[in-house]
Amino acid sequence: MVSRNPEIAHLQANYLFVEIGARKKGLLAKNPKADLINLGIGDTTEPIPAVIVEALTKKTKQLGSSTEYTGYGKAIGIQKLREGIAQKMYKNSISADDIFISDGAKPDLGRLQILFGRHSTLAVQDPSYPVYIATSVMTGKTKGYNSDSGQYDAIVYMPCKPENSFCPNLEQLPRTDLIYICSPNNPTGAVLTHQQLKKLVHIAHKNRSLIIFDAAYAGFIRDPSLPRSIYEVEGAEEVAIEVSSFSKLAGFTGVRLGWSVVPRQLHFDDGSSVQQDWIQIVSTFFNSASNIAQAGGLAAISDEGLQQSQILCDYYLDNANILRDAIESAGYTCFGGDNAPYLWTDIKGEKSWELFDRLLHKAHLVTTPGAGFGPTGEGFLRLSAFGKRDQIVEAAQRLKNALSS
Ligand code: MLT
Repeated sequence: MVSRNPEIAHLQANYLFVEIGARKKGLLAKNPKADLINLGIGDTTEPIPAVIVEALTKKTKQLGSSTEYTGYGKAIGIQKLREGIAQKMYKNSISADDIFISDGAKPDLGRLQILFGRHSTLAVQDPSYPVYIATSVMTGKTKGYNSDSGQYDAIVYMPCKPENSFCPNLEQLPRTDLIYICSPNNPTGAVLTHQQLKKLVHIAHKNRSLIIFDAAYAGFIRDPSLPRSIYEVEGAEEVAIEVSSFSKLAGFTGVRLGWSVVPRQLHFDDGSSVQQDWIQIVSTFFNSASNIAQAGGLAAISDEGLQQSQILCDYYLDNANILRDAIESAGYTCFGGDNAPYLWTDIKGEKSWELFDRLLHKAHLVTTPGAGFGPTGEGFLRLSAFGKRDQIVEAAQRLKNALSS
């Protein structure tokens, strides 16, 4: 038989949401009638706005017409969509030529790993979206693996807690090749300010590090003073890649569409162009996002599409308010939920997998234990605000009862 990729064996546990799915399945095996409500994985539930569905439908119909059918597109995406994103999302401060359309932020995070050498070091916010570490490990960035702690010398954890307003202490950050930052943050819901991003960009310049900025939740920012992109900071094009997505913005979790910004100003330490390598990787591993999805993306960035998507995001933010009220009335403190679809609840010293299991079995609620996002996540529980209103109202009541008892 073929030998296993040894790096995958280094990953301590199942991918977080796979483990949660397994525990959910375990409960359903015992109690098939359990009326479970999902506050776990952040998956959209509301229909895609009509203007976007029309565009998706029109493109699908064209594929059934002998005169309008189209096959392969450019791997980097259709130019009109790249231009539309440059204009609508970046007010043309980013060139369309630096934007690469993809099938979502998560696959791009995986493909980005191929850009970097095996011995690259990285810093991640702790807690953080597990995909940053998992894709790094799978592609061999396992230098200094310690089998006792399950941690790696190559990976620096940047604790993000209420005490530092969930912003890493950047002054104390040892130099790493890569710095992963997610804002609005999954899982804490915190959004970094202009000042904080400015400091980050400054440190990346000073240390000659590359920032991977995950902006997948930017559509949820309602406070106009908060930055929606790393490129709102001067000089960021020389030190940052940004990944983003239509998934949560326009309900495309199943449609699959996202983009990455890989500016031409980025260079490796040997002087070669990061963008040129990215084009090579994308063209080799990928044959462009679906042409149907891209037609939907074009409609999503039309004025009407953006307005409808904003209503969709507002709906989930209203859900977050309902959940927050329930948590607070049970005497718990929670963070996030104002400019992000996640609530990060301080669970008063209880172990997060224990509370997860208690809520699963006693209240039939699926949540996400903070420990699944990194060591500093222990002692917290993440609640996703994606859900249908009646289910969220019911979940809020169950949460209040379970946490009060
Ligand atoms: C989450 O719940 O963290 C996200 O939905 C997962 C993802 O986007 O892959």
